[in-house]
Amino acid sequence: MARKALIAANWKMFKTPAEAADFAKAFLPLVAGHTRDEIALFPSPVLLPTVVAACKGSNVAVGAQNIHFAEEGAYTGETSVGQLKAVDGTHTLIGHSERRQYFAETDEIVNKKLHTALKHKLIPIVCVGEVLEERESGKTESVLKTQITGAFAGVTAEMAAPIVIAYEPVWAIGTGKTATPDMAADAHKIIRAEVAKLLGANVATAMRILYGGSVKPDNATALIGMEEIDGALVGGASLKPDSFTAIVKY
Ligand code: PGA
Repeated sequence: MARKALIAANWKMFKTPAEAADFAKAFLPLVAGHTRDEIALFPSPVLLPTVVAACKGSNVAVGAQNIHFAEEGAYTGETSVGQLKAVDGTHTLIGHSERRQYFAETDEIVNKKLHTALKHKLIPIVCVGEVLEERESGKTESVLKTQITGAFAGVTAEMAAPIVIAYEPVWAIGTGKTATPDMAADAHKIIRAEVAKLLGANVATAMRILYGGSVKPDNATALIGMEEIDGALVGGASLKPDSFTAIVKY
């Protein structure tokens, strides 16, 4: 069964509203009519209204880089799902490695966020991936299985259709080192097998698994062209309209 690829831009803590508007002005015409893949932009919360307004009526979706699991409350500095939905965000990243690394997000928190996102009908992109030491000590498989099991606790096959997974080996993020297409595909197979174990073969076959970690225009075709790789989560190379377009059109 063919899975439609999703090409996602993680802008991290970059761009002002004016820069985001300039990006949209240049980027949207470049990808107009591109229906082969889904496209989504993930700007910081302060940019969301600008980017959503710019992308309205286009083939480009907009989401958040992070949400809180609570509906609302005294959580200084956080963004709720209700706030995201009120500005027409449709997607959210969950458990990006930078959230795990710098903001102490655990698999348990990732799980709570996933439940909140599903409850509110957002499309969640759950990020998983091993750090360098884990890969070098042969722990990649067990780390991925633990992250997937933890993230999916209490998720049923009936609930799982919107979920997207991003495999992002932490040693490849922002470093210019990418997993080779075969390495990435092997990790994706481990993840898909774990999803099959938890939620059944049909859910696993339908679930999109993106690759992230130094995806650039010159390696996108080799990576996304792999049977097991259903798109990309792109950081650095998503900041410029030309390079992100080249990846979208891999
Ligand atoms: P990168 O970031 O493409 O700059 O490596 C990917 C990510 O963190 O999602």
